Amino acid sequence: MRILTIETTCDETAAAVIGDNLAVLGSVVASQDELHRRFGGVVPEIASRAHLERILPVIDEALRRGGTRLHQLDAVAVANTPGLAGSLLVGLVAAKALCVAAGLPLIAVNHLQAHVYACRLAAGREVFPCVGLIASGGHSSLYRCPSPLDFELLGATIDDAAGEAFDKVASMLRLPYPGGPSIQKAAERGDPQAYRFPRALLDNRAVLDFSFSGLKTAVRYTIAGPGKSDFETIHLADRQVADLAASFQEAAVDCLVGKAMLALEKTGLTTLCVGGGVAANARLRKRLEEEAARNRISLHIAPLKLCTDNAVMGAIAVERFRAGRFESLDLDVAPGVIRKTG
Ligand code: KG4
Ligand code: ZN
Repeated sequence: MRILTIETTCDETAAAVIGDNLAVLGSVVASQDELHRRFGGVVPEIASRAHLERILPVIDEALRRGGTRLHQLDAVAVANTPGLAGSLLVGLVAAKALCVAAGLPLIAVNHLQAHVYACRLAAGREVFPCVGLIASGGHSSLYRCPSPLDFELLGATIDDAAGEAFDKVASMLRLPYPGGPSIQKAAERGDPQAYRFPRALLDNRAVLDFSFSGLKTAVRYTIAGPGKSDFETIHLADRQVADLAASFQEAAVDCLVGKAMLALEKTGLTTLCVGGGVAANARLRKRLEEEAARNRISLHIAPLKLCTDNAVMGAIAVERFRAGRFESLDLDVAPGVIRKTG
């Protein structure tokens, strides 16, 4: 069996060919970081235009690397939810066109389920049922995942996503985009206790939601005080940048780890799968490992190259293929988060 998987939910144009036993035959990720860098965040219109330019060469290259011709495929899978509407559309239209041209069935991939499935791929064995924690530039959510294709939202950010907070704080500290890796690097030299930033909702055991907007504002006020500020004109010593980065990162990590552990406690599940761009964060990974060991939780964190967006995690399409869950060609994009599937 061979499935072509396509991913264009945000700012990565990616395609992969998945073979028997979830083997990755070929994979390509064309990052748009360079295009969005000077804006300090993803600009949706630029992202969709760049997808349009890149989608066909990326698919072509993935097929070439996978030693696969179109007629050797058994299906085409595409992430159609959630994400930026314009970006999602490019991948979906490309997938549909290939299905029509080659007479192949179409499979829909939920991008958030795919982030959790990256852990299944890396584990090489079943990881379900589990709690899934997805922390990325667009999402910070906790799911109950009884099986690869069923999930139920337990909690999510009520304002900014964790990755968005990393990106915005990096921009205030004038560290390069994407902010996550820059903050992590600066934090290595900093004191995580130097500033006491808020951990919103962490002590509220009634909810499994996150809130990162207050944390972002607290960093902003510490740097510049209230009111509008031009961060270009504020000079911070290297030591201050490192301490602010470390203290911010510690607060964000505390919230993600704390709520993930609470979700496990509330659901009675004993396996935690973690994915999304922020899951690449070294401090988060270490803290999750410590807490998992302490609470006897079986922990699976996606390997670094499967944390940020890619098409390999679209291998979840194999589960849909086996279950015979194909889509008609009038499948649409669904930019918003789906709360429950089954
Ligand atoms: O999953 P992803 O590639 O795209 C979305 O679906 O959003 O995640 C990108 C996000 C960015 O906000 C980036 O700053 C963050 O993941 N990120 C990190 C790290 N590497 C990437 N955040 C914290 N620490 C990192 N090492
Ligand atoms: Zn993602």
